Amino acid sequence: MAERKTSIIHVDEHPWEDGGEIMTLPDGPRMKIYASDDATGRTDTLINFPPGYIEPRHTHSGWHSCFLLEGRWIVEGKEIKAGSYMHGPAGPEQPHGPFHSPEGSLVFATYSGTRDTMGHNWDATDPHAPAPSEQSAQSKTRIVDIDELDWQDGSNLMTLPAGVRMKVFDEDEAAGRTDCLIEFPPGYVEPRHTHSAAHTGCLLKGDWIVEGKLLKPGSYFYGPAGDDQPHGPFESPNGTLIFISFQGGTGAAIEHHWDSDH
Ligand SMILES: [Fe+2]
Ligand SMILES: [Fe+2]
Repeated sequence: MAERKTSIIHVDEHPWEDGGEIMTLPDGPRMKIYASDDATGRTDTLINFPPGYIEPRHTHSGWHSCFLLEGRWIVEGKEIKAGSYMHGPAGPEQPHGPFHSPEGSLVFATYSGTRDTMGHNWDATDPHAPAPSEQSAQSKTRIVDIDELDWQDGSNLMTLPAGVRMKVFDEDEAAGRTDCLIEFPPGYVEPRHTHSAAHTGCLLKGDWIVEGKLLKPGSYFYGPAGDDQPHGPFESPNGTLIFISFQGGTGAAIEHHWDSDH
């Protein structure tokens, strides 16, 4: 059965697990697995990489969209700062990495697959093998620094009250996925609403009050798909920055339906 429920998890409510073991990576990462859902084929996690960690170049069966909350990453030689994005594609033909985390980092990642299919394949005889100097024509790895993108009017794209801004990191019509950064100004209230896609995401900055529950950065929110699954409201008393991955459709599927009388 598909996960049909709203999920709101404060970062301090959830335990850390051994991420090296779960992801079959070198020892060091810790993970909070906020969701692992068979029906939607989705696993959502917060990952802490220790200072100096290098995730080797690798492949895996599903894709992942990663958002950097804290620290910096050097991904295939490109440095990206907090607020930036990386999408690692699915399948044995799509190696990506290595990922260097010089001072340690905190990452939110949504994987296609369950926690049992998150295993990474990499060369243990040469774990720090460098990436090719150029991306191949077949490569679907996407690495976007936050400063590379301009803000867009999120109220238009998502049909929400004026004031919200978005940076769209990646939109994949075939996969039905839109990965974006969303900024709500101080005092903004996103009304209770529905949409035909689902969204999964993580709070990056500010306070966020979701259905009356106060969240701090690193916390998790999942809004289910369908017009029978209203969720919210979402209050941003001092301004809020969040990462959201809409899954289950693009374009009209991320339009929000809400009652303008409320
Ligand atoms: Fe990966
Ligand atoms: Fe929503």
